[in-house]
Amino acid sequence: MCGIVGYIGNAQCFPILIKGLHRLEYRGYDSAGVAILNDNNQLNIYKSRGKVEDLEHFCESKDVEGTIGIAHTRWATHGEPNDVNAHPHCSSHGDLALVHNGTIENYNVLKKALIEHGCEFKSETDTEVLVQLIEYIKENNKCTLIEAVTEALEQVVGAYAIAVIDRNTPDTIIAARKSSPLVIGIGDDATYLASDATPIIDYTDKVVYLNDDEIAIIKKGEPLQVINADKEPSNIDIKTLKLSVSQLEKGGYPHFMLKEIYEQVMTLEDCIRGRVYNNSIVLSGVNENSEAFKSAHRIIIVACGTSWHAGLIGKRLIQDIARVPVEVEYASEFRYSNPVITPNDIVIAISQSGETADTLAAISLAKEKGAFVYGVCNVVGSSIARATDSGTYIHVGPEIGVASTKAFTGQVTVLAMLALAIGQLRGTVSTDTLVRTTSAIEMLPALIKETLKLDKDIEKLSRTYTYVHNFLYLGRGYNFPSALEGALKLKEISYIHAEGYPAAEMKHGPIALIDHELPTVVIAPMDDLHDKIISNIRQVKARGGSVIAIVNKGDKTIKSIADFTLEIPAVPECLSPIIASIPLQLLAYHIAVKKGCNVDMPRNLAKSVTVE
Ligand code: AGP
Ligand code: GLU
Repeated sequence: MCGIVGYIGNAQCFPILIKGLHRLEYRGYDSAGVAILNDNNQLNIYKSRGKVEDLEHFCESKDVEGTIGIAHTRWATHGEPNDVNAHPHCSSHGDLALVHNGTIENYNVLKKALIEHGCEFKSETDTEVLVQLIEYIKENNKCTLIEAVTEALEQVVGAYAIAVIDRNTPDTIIAARKSSPLVIGIGDDATYLASDATPIIDYTDKVVYLNDDEIAIIKKGEPLQVINADKEPSNIDIKTLKLSVSQLEKGGYPHFMLKEIYEQVMTLEDCIRGRVYNNSIVLSGVNENSEAFKSAHRIIIVACGTSWHAGLIGKRLIQDIARVPVEVEYASEFRYSNPVITPNDIVIAISQSGETADTLAAISLAKEKGAFVYGVCNVVGSSIARATDSGTYIHVGPEIGVASTKAFTGQVTVLAMLALAIGQLRGTVSTDTLVRTTSAIEMLPALIKETLKLDKDIEKLSRTYTYVHNFLYLGRGYNFPSALEGALKLKEISYIHAEGYPAAEMKHGPIALIDHELPTVVIAPMDDLHDKIISNIRQVKARGGSVIAIVNKGDKTIKSIADFTLEIPAVPECLSPIIASIPLQLLAYHIAVKKGCNVDMPRNLAKSVTVE
């Protein structure tokens, strides 16, 4: 993961770099650092363990003057999170500084060879190998910085987005990417670079997304140059960003997560807009590839984490509505499972960030085997959005809180629309289902608004459960994945162990855990399995467990058995996980806040997992 920022221009770069690092902190916050070249050709590097604000404090009395700089916020993969392993890393002779996002797989072999040639390593990171190798090549071959970077990257196996500065060429930043994202912002008299566009948007809306194997030569006062793997000049495709600064701020909420939970009223409107029309679904990605969707023998969904949970709901939706067999795979398992994929398969990759390394690798495998690959992404222009053959954006705006909330509801909504669109094409969806489901999709924003009124009750409820050590989440059918998602939300931000289970599976093992100390959250809307789930609730109660039940309004039976009920509005079963996820998100949020946890930046996690 990690976030990279760079600036070259006429302004003082330190405040720009720090502001950019804050925007990228969702990518990792183990340590942060900056390297700045000043007018006297001095290279000042400051780094510190912890968050960007720790770096700011550390730099308070330091000389941070200079108009060229690179900066980094780290999510450690090689070497513990400490000051020495923090980026930027400096070369042995002190001329070069480099920041890196990714992992260098052959770093050990390269490191040994460089040590034999007299290089002295300070850190345990794989990254330091890159900067030492570039300096070694530059000095040994007596070549330019760009030549040395090009040659070094030819020797490297792994994933990287890098930015390098050199005291000997103080007007240049060299940047390169392979499998990790990098965006270059073109200002009037400055150039910016970053892992995503959020640090750039304050200064310019003109950006260039670097492609894999491209190297950018960013020179002060000169137009951007990009070369490809064959060392030929690449075509520079300048895109205009549609992101606004206000979308990146907390807007009065104490945390991004809470803001993003509340935003779901609006984000689902954006997600649905223009796609539900006269009781039918219009998805351009499906219409433009109607033959592929009509003739598909099978759909395989690949994703990770919350996106994988959305994928499990997508499976039910597509099978029920479009009658195509669907498999759902963790992208990380799929890529190493020697999967049977044929050109008659469609692979759907779901990813909020569009940068998840495992999902990207699954996509390239699927493409190699000839499958048509469809993306369901949030971040416009992200690597996954560009690597897929076609797709549908969820359009929920930037999600900053590490715990995914509005992206999940956006993903499930898009998957519902996708299932209906495929069903329309294949003639498997009845007019009645179409009318009922599309009308309910249009109602979702209003129903979410109503559901958010539970916030106060959930805040009160969270006081009872702040200090428990374990939680069980149960659901059936469409809401088994909701149970998994509720448990994931709780564990990632409150560090309380939680397990999600299909309710009927409880009797095959987890029931042994139930006692008065283990609360169970049961997602039990009024659906075909309602009577069955009532029996499951009784089984928990009979063993002294407490039950928080998420039910539809007016469900007197469960109200009389459960300890607490949270009433949500009724929708068709296939859309119920969207509404049910709201109380689950709020419960996890309030428990984590009461425990004093950092909900937006939970320990050990990062928003965008660009490493294996
Ligand atoms: C969700 O709350 C997580 N932090 C995480 O599981 C996330 O969903 C996963 O890393 C996948 O990310 P993506 O959607 O950006 O690919
Ligand atoms: N491998 C580098 C490190 O551990 C960068 C990590 C990353 O991009 O996540 O410092």
